Amino acid sequence: MDNRPIGIMDSGVGGLTVAKALHDMYPKESIVFIGDSKRNPYGERTRDEIADFGEELKAFLLARDVKMIIVGCNTISFNVRDNFTEGPVPVVKMSLDISFPEGAEEVGIFATPASIATHAHYNYLSKKYPDIHFIEVPCDGVAAAIEQKKEENLISSLVRKAVKEYHAFGIDAGYWACTHYPLIPYAFAEALPHVPFIDPSRPTVEKAVDILRKQDRLAEQTGRNRFYFTDCLENASPLVKSLFGPVVVEKTVL
Ligand code: DGL
Repeated sequence: MDNRPIGIMDSGVGGLTVAKALHDMYPKESIVFIGDSKRNPYGERTRDEIADFGEELKAFLLARDVKMIIVGCNTISFNVRDNFTEGPVPVVKMSLDISFPEGAEEVGIFATPASIATHAHYNYLSKKYPDIHFIEVPCDGVAAAIEQKKEENLISSLVRKAVKEYHAFGIDAGYWACTHYPLIPYAFAEALPHVPFIDPSRPTVEKAVDILRKQDRLAEQTGRNRFYFTDCLENASPLVKSLFGPVVVEKTVL
């Protein structure tokens, strides 16, 4: 048993989708969340910048005595340096082990430009599912627009533009390979009506909790959930409260 919190990082509010899955599935686990809204979007930055920022977020969480870190961000997960997962506590990246609806022949991978540039999702999934044709769809500007709480119309038009540019109209299923995207299901439903979308937040939580379970370090007593952002509290705070209830949301520096 280990009642210390689980740390979750993201470039902003996207990682809240992973935090929410953890909270719903394992309510006894407490959370320390850090979102780097000041430097968002990470998905339009260089690999080195993302790797450096990831180290800063990791140090922030380690300083808060977490028992594990979940990287609630695909862009960070697949752009960090090889030794990122080393350290005093387990560091768990976004899960790539997701499954698609029976009979799916063409699947769209929707992610930030920096995630797509690594081809991490494409390489892993094409090997695992050789019969499925995967299309990579970088969604320029979408995470930033969500972070800045832009109008729904604008966000929908950005998703539509990406679908058109990367010829994803015929897909049987979509994969939200950016944790911001499950926050805007309406935009994907509008661009691709009737296409089911897969959210990897639950498989990621299962992967993380499995490690704790094997080490007999699940929590038995709920603590306080803490949410930190480096900027834009006016956008992040209402969203956090709508997902987690009346919790404290704080501005911080890294
Ligand atoms: N939420 C992040 C992800 O899963 C990226 C958002 C950003 O571009 O900063 O990739």
